[in-house]
Amino acid sequence: MTDVVNVKDVEKIYGSKNEKKYKALSNVSFKVEPGEFVGIMGASGSGKTTLLNILSTLDKPTSGEILINGNDVTKLKGNQMADFRAEQIGFIFQDFNLLENLTAYENIALPLSLQNKNAEVINNSVGKIAQKLGLDDILDHYPTELSGGQKQRVAAARAIVHDPSILFGDEPTGALDSKSARALMETMTKINRDDNTSILLVTHDPFSASYCKRILFIKDGEIGQELKRNNSTRREFYQEILDSLGTFAE
Ligand SMILES: Nc1ncnc2c1ncn2[C@@H]1O[C@H](COP(=O)(O)OP(=O)(O)O)[C@@H](O)[C@H]1O
Ligand SMILES: [Mg+2]
Repeated sequence: MTDVVNVKDVEKIYGSKNEKKYKALSNVSFKVEPGEFVGIMGASGSGKTTLLNILSTLDKPTSGEILINGNDVTKLKGNQMADFRAEQIGFIFQDFNLLENLTAYENIALPLSLQNKNAEVINNSVGKIAQKLGLDDILDHYPTELSGGQKQRVAAARAIVHDPSILFGDEPTGALDSKSARALMETMTKINRDDNTSILLVTHDPFSASYCKRILFIKDGEIGQELKRNNSTRREFYQEILDSLGTFAE
């Protein structure tokens, strides 16, 4: 089966011709198989957001290859790139990124509206996902009327309503209290398990990472080691992550 993500030798250098250069990523290579739930952990400034932005076509690498579902996204141009992103990619951000003047329903429907799906298809898809994520009662609410946890669940629903090949998360629990963070990670686990949606989650938080099945550790723009969950419980895996962070940081 085609890997859902295949990153080969990616390098990212910030700074154009006359600016100071900064190498944010070097020699980054890894794969995500269909249905995997992979975490990328690293301290602030280690290159996590840079990597996710490149994977999700929001930014381009300086060199290297990125295949998403077998498509080389570094070769996509303009409209092709926008279409590819709209169809194949779901994204959850730390700060929700909901549109304030749209209701929860309209926010969730957005990826389908942008693909010009008809009202019935939109209604069915939003209804299904709202039920699954427990959002039925708040669909008419505007973002300002929702708690952080509710906003992030709406954002998660929007990220998967179009059934993307992969769901990317950039510190999605970063702005949540611990109870909402736990609820969101349980929701992501459910999305991964029930729909076989592949997830790549970037975080510096060991608790969020403990829900993943495999973790790649990134430091100064390079991936250093990998940790697999195997048969560990989530609690055991949490401890293993803390141990790995201890040795990796040294
Ligand atoms: N647009 C940019 N221009 C120059 N340097 C940047 C830019 N974006 C990020 N960086 C630098 O690249 C490094 C990695 O940043 P980032 O990917 O945001 O890390 P993380 O998400 O792990 O905190 C940091 O040193 C940051 O200052
Ligand atoms: Mg970041």
